[in-house]
Amino acid sequence: MTILVTGGAGFIGSNFVLDWLAASDEDVVNLDKLTYAGNVHNLADLASDPRHIFVQGDIGDAGLVAALLKAHSPRAVLNFAAESHVDRSILGPLEFIQTNIVGTFHLLEQVRAYWGGIDAQAQAGFRFLHVSTDEVYGSLASRDPAFTETHRYEPNSPYSASKAASDHLVRAYHHTYGLPVLTTNCSNNYGPLHFPEKLIPLMIVNAQAGKPLPVYGDGQQIRDWLYVKDHCSAIRTVLQGGRLGETYNIGGWNEKPNLHIVHTVCDLLDELKPRADGQSYRSQIAYVTDRPGHDRRYAIDARKIEQELGWKPAETFETGIRKTVQWYLDHPQWVAQVQSGAYREWVATQYAQT
Ligand code: NAD
Ligand code: DAU
Repeated sequence: MTILVTGGAGFIGSNFVLDWLAASDEDVVNLDKLTYAGNVHNLADLASDPRHIFVQGDIGDAGLVAALLKAHSPRAVLNFAAESHVDRSILGPLEFIQTNIVGTFHLLEQVRAYWGGIDAQAQAGFRFLHVSTDEVYGSLASRDPAFTETHRYEPNSPYSASKAASDHLVRAYHHTYGLPVLTTNCSNNYGPLHFPEKLIPLMIVNAQAGKPLPVYGDGQQIRDWLYVKDHCSAIRTVLQGGRLGETYNIGGWNEKPNLHIVHTVCDLLDELKPRADGQSYRSQIAYVTDRPGHDRRYAIDARKIEQELGWKPAETFETGIRKTVQWYLDHPQWVAQVQSGAYREWVATQYAQT
């Protein structure tokens, strides 16, 4: 048996592929365009593993996707591929429309054609699992209940709007064509292999480099944080037992303001790799101009996946963030490798005005 994973060289996708092959003998075909966020070094441990077939390409390349489906006959397609950074979507939305909406559409079309041509037993077992985000639900006020799966879609950034559109397409392919789909909407992930443009890895990397730790606005925006390996286990759980056409929210029951996250990272670094001058890394915090349209609060109600499928996160924030900081301290070469010229250009553009 084989699964086809898209975006499997990115942060969550590569963690998923590594965990999958650690626990199962089922082959993985990994289709990734290798944008700035895709990194084959994330998959270095699989370099000589015949169960992992890496293909560089675009989910929007209909001919390539059709050929891969024909050649490998996967029993499931898991779509992680996306442009994923909100700030980049504000500076340049086009790629987000292209990959997240148009790309997902082409992928769905090819999967629909493939699924339509396989025998009835294979059709019944087939799954298309779409990995999405809690950001499609918009922003919560401080006392609002957490997002459930029936919360109205109210995306506020080009990124979340493009993910919302992709969720709607996936839903429509189930409703209209009967494609056996599952959608997951997860909160903020953190953990190993996280590209240092996102809050937690950026703070870890900047702190050690003696650079400012840029906190947008008042730093009181709230996110729900989930260790990436828990997200991967939730996806495996939904793939295994999720009801067709359903969506499942995934979260860590772990709402924290950004400033608390930054303080926690600083305190762990103070403990694990103290600054030579004896000062706390907290002294590097710099309040900068807020993100336009910045969502104030996200919170996930993860009772459905827990009650229906028995999934719960294994890590607390305290255990997960300690592992994460330690991972970055143990992998300076990975950090150096991803901080290419393109990375430096992005950081210079994004933080120029602040
Ligand atoms: P990422 O940006 O780290 O990785 C995305 C991967 O997709 C990269 O390897 C990139 O090369 C690849 N890719 C981009 N465009 C492609 C295309 N057209 N064809 C093929 N591959 C392409 O993202 P991530 O943080 O790993 O997120 C993975 C998925 O999970 C995304 O769909 C994202 O919306 C969703 N998600 C992320 C989070 C989070 O906190 N990071 C939370 C919830 C949901
Ligand atoms: O909620 C799930 C989403 O989480 C995913 O769908 C996205 O792909 C993922 O990027 C993430 O989106 P966020 O915008 O929440 O993540 P980010 O790490 O960019 O920012 C987290 C919070 O920290 C947010 O409130 C903005 C703030 N922030 C971020 C950066 C990069 C800062 O204060 N300073 C920064 O330099």
